[in-house]
Amino acid sequence: MVPSRPRPKVFVSWRFPSPGPEMIAAECEAVIREGDTLLPREEFLRAIADVEGVMVSNTTERLDREAMDAAPRLRVISNFGVGYDNVDVPEATRRGILVCNTPGILAETCADHTFALLMAAARRIVEGHQYVHAGRWKHWLPSLLVGKDVHHATLGIIGMGAIGREVAKRARGFDMRILYVSRTPKPDVEHATGAQRVSREELLSQSDYVSLHLPLTAETRHFIGERELRLMKRDAILVNTARGGIVDQAALVRALDEGWIGGAALDVTDPEPIPMDSPLLNRPNVIIVPHIASASVATRAKMSELAARNLLAALRGERPPHLVNPEVWGRRKTT
Ligand code: 8YV
Repeated sequence: MVPSRPRPKVFVSWRFPSPGPEMIAAECEAVIREGDTLLPREEFLRAIADVEGVMVSNTTERLDREAMDAAPRLRVISNFGVGYDNVDVPEATRRGILVCNTPGILAETCADHTFALLMAAARRIVEGHQYVHAGRWKHWLPSLLVGKDVHHATLGIIGMGAIGREVAKRARGFDMRILYVSRTPKPDVEHATGAQRVSREELLSQSDYVSLHLPLTAETRHFIGERELRLMKRDAILVNTARGGIVDQAALVRALDEGWIGGAALDVTDPEPIPMDSPLLNRPNVIIVPHIASASVATRAKMSELAARNLLAALRGERPPHLVNPEVWGRRKTT
């Protein structure tokens, strides 16, 4: 009788929503971490010492050289999320470790959230909410919380990937003029939404709203810095649901202090969480929420399922549905 292969050991860094954890537990010897506290780095390194696979949040677990050294048997890193700036991908590739993510399924939810932030900033929703709760609503006033129109305004989309194009679709419904910056032209988006591909400078100087949809890489770090913020309209609103590091936050603080732009709506900051003494906090024209763009019940379940499918496929020796480093496939680690 051929002895059955032992169930692969895996570590799952959070109790992710169903069905991912259950799918993994059915096939693997899995440690699925319970609780809502952040795992200290040393404990994470100990937890992965013996595992062949990990499923992690790209926001909380860093898979760098140190982590890969700590996990010599690691064969697959499955990110719960589309971004993979938490992984040293070249290092994983060098070691034959597969890196997987969950693209596609979260684009619409992130685009909805982008629009929620854009509109909240434009129409001063958070200020209004605070005004009411502070007992300041004594009577109506003609000048009360007057904001900016969204309809027929110009939206600049930086990065026309899956999320950017969903934002463009929504903007079309508001009769917005859409400008975009992208490495390659997107004729289908242009056709569907009337979006025009322009230079970064044109986009910044003409847009009423600038929304970021780039991955964070060495090239995109501080893509929006002092020069770019100075090019923006004085009442423009910067929306960032991508990664905090794409914006030079010190320059953003100066831009807000000195009125180079009108405001910002941020789902992401650098660092995260934002320190409570950050000069970005407690400004009426800045909305900050805690990295929740993909946080809908349905989307989180899809992310969980896809991340689990990626992990399990890799451990079975099958090609995962979403490989970030496909070049590794032919020379992947097998045990
Ligand atoms: C997640 C994200 O909330 O998918 C991404 O890249 O940033 C978000 O959807 C988060 O990173 C979950 O791990």
